[in-house]
Amino acid sequence: MTKHKQISATASWESPSNLAIVKYWGKHGLQEPLNPSISFSLAAAVTRTRVSTRPSDQPGFSFRLNGAEKAGFNEKIATFLERVHSHLPFLQHHFLQIDSCNTFPHSSGIASSASSMSALALCLTQLHLLHSDKEETAMDSVLASTLARMGSGSAARSVYGGWTLWGRYPGKKESSDMYALPLEEAEIDPDFRSLHNSILLIDPGQKAVSSTAGHALMNHHPYREARVEQAQKNTERLLAILKAGEWDDFFELAENEALSLHGLMMSSTPSYTLLHPNSLEAIHRIRRARREHGLPIGFSMDAGPNIHLLYPAHENKKIRTWMQEELQPLCADKAILHDQVGTGPRALTSNQALDE
Ligand code: DP6
Repeated sequence: MTKHKQISATASWESPSNLAIVKYWGKHGLQEPLNPSISFSLAAAVTRTRVSTRPSDQPGFSFRLNGAEKAGFNEKIATFLERVHSHLPFLQHHFLQIDSCNTFPHSSGIASSASSMSALALCLTQLHLLHSDKEETAMDSVLASTLARMGSGSAARSVYGGWTLWGRYPGKKESSDMYALPLEEAEIDPDFRSLHNSILLIDPGQKAVSSTAGHALMNHHPYREARVEQAQKNTERLLAILKAGEWDDFFELAENEALSLHGLMMSSTPSYTLLHPNSLEAIHRIRRARREHGLPIGFSMDAGPNIHLLYPAHENKKIRTWMQEELQPLCADKAILHDQVGTGPRALTSNQALDE
């Protein structure tokens, strides 16, 4: 095992949440995905995390969310640290103080695992450098993505800005199940580099079935093979759509993936649904406005009842007005979070407050 310095050090990172258009659903081994997925990082929905180390014979950690101890997260963090142990020798001889905060409302129904595990993985990657005996100073994004994946699969894609691909896909030989890769600027039409995403908070309550439990139901799912094939084809199609800047095809594919994800939940054993009546009503209204009024809008969904409205930046004004009239009444507390494709994680200065 490589040598490491026993010192006190601090690393602070901000990392975004992301929205997958081709969905990761089902995994095996140590969080390896059943299929490739493609997502973009958000700009406004981010987690900020600071990790400080101090030499100790009793390695361990203490975690605070928004300044308060949150024992509910301890098990997830402990499992994560065990998984990444062999990559980070300094963990053997240091105690970690971990502080975190999210810019999006807690329990808003927005998955925070992608941004939080990615921010934590970025801090640990930097600490690995600071504790190592080597001269190396450049951040290793592949290591950060690999570590993030072990915390939460979707977090592997959050260590970059813009669009990313995670999972082995024959059309890209650098792709891997172990980590995500950023898609190059030349691979994405400028329209999709500034894509807008407004998140309709239909029902911000706690989900009845977690994503982790949902992934497990893919192990014996009757449509497992067909799903893998569908995701591979959709990965190929989406890469072509993003390059060509084809909005109609983009909406069709994004909606097909979102509804397939929910279809897989409904057809698993046991079966379940996370859709709310207002999720379906919003879907009808979005499709009707596109069909009858030619509004360039479409939707995606994660494993929950919220609807992610997708639209081009240059139509922002018109669509916001329509959204206010047609979709806002369907949201709990009329809450909509407006977001867009973001530039990715950034290092914070060590004395910057996390909630600034
Ligand atoms: C529906 O990454 O939250 O958002 O790996 O068990 O932590 P774990 O699951 P998670 O699953 C996300 C699933 C999804 C689709 C996606 O983001 O690709």
